[in-house]
Amino acid sequence: MRRKLVFATNNQHKLKEVSAILGDEIGIMSLEDINCYADIPETADTLEGNALLKAEFVHNNYNIDCFSDDTGLEVEALDGAPGVYSARNAEANMLKLLHELEHVKNRKAQFRTVIILIMNNEKYVFEGIIRGEIVMDKRGISGFGYDPIFIPEGYDQTFAELGDNIKNEISHRAQAVNKLCKFLKSVQ
Ligand code: IMP
Repeated sequence: MRRKLVFATNNQHKLKEVSAILGDEIGIMSLEDINCYADIPETADTLEGNALLKAEFVHNNYNIDCFSDDTGLEVEALDGAPGVYSARNAEANMLKLLHELEHVKNRKAQFRTVIILIMNNEKYVFEGIIRGEIVMDKRGISGFGYDPIFIPEGYDQTFAELGDNIKNEISHRAQAVNKLCKFLKSVQ
């Protein structure tokens, strides 16, 4: 049976990435698909907190099974910043980050995704982490957000150079979504 649930986002990049991973068996609807145009608050100070705010908003207002994700880029030399504050204006933030790290040797960073699923009134948490490092200058055009400045461990190209196929196999979001997918298939 094809299970339908809402992914609490209107970010087309995320929808594409997550749909590709979930495959045909698990169809997802976006916020637009359920006519939700609200500006859902993301005011928590952790990724888990923000993901919960989004999932609860949809669940409480639309009474439908849903999941949400929140992702942050956590830079070691910046004590995990920008983290939950990896705001939407990625271009400006990317340049700011490169500037902050201009003379910093430790380039280690990780993307971390937290997914909260609310299904049959139960809450479930899934996490995905990919470690890597921040380059000196942005490279590549695919993906979105901070992809042009992040090289995943074991590679020498940025996510934006590696392209969607490789990113979808290894990324933070892919790892969290794979856990979600495995869980959804186990309860079908
Ligand atoms: P969100 O709160 O999960 O939407 O993520 C906040 C910001 O983090 C986004 O607007 C992007 O700038 C950045 N971000 C999230 N996921 C990714 C990713 O997979 N690659 C690069 N940047 C990302």
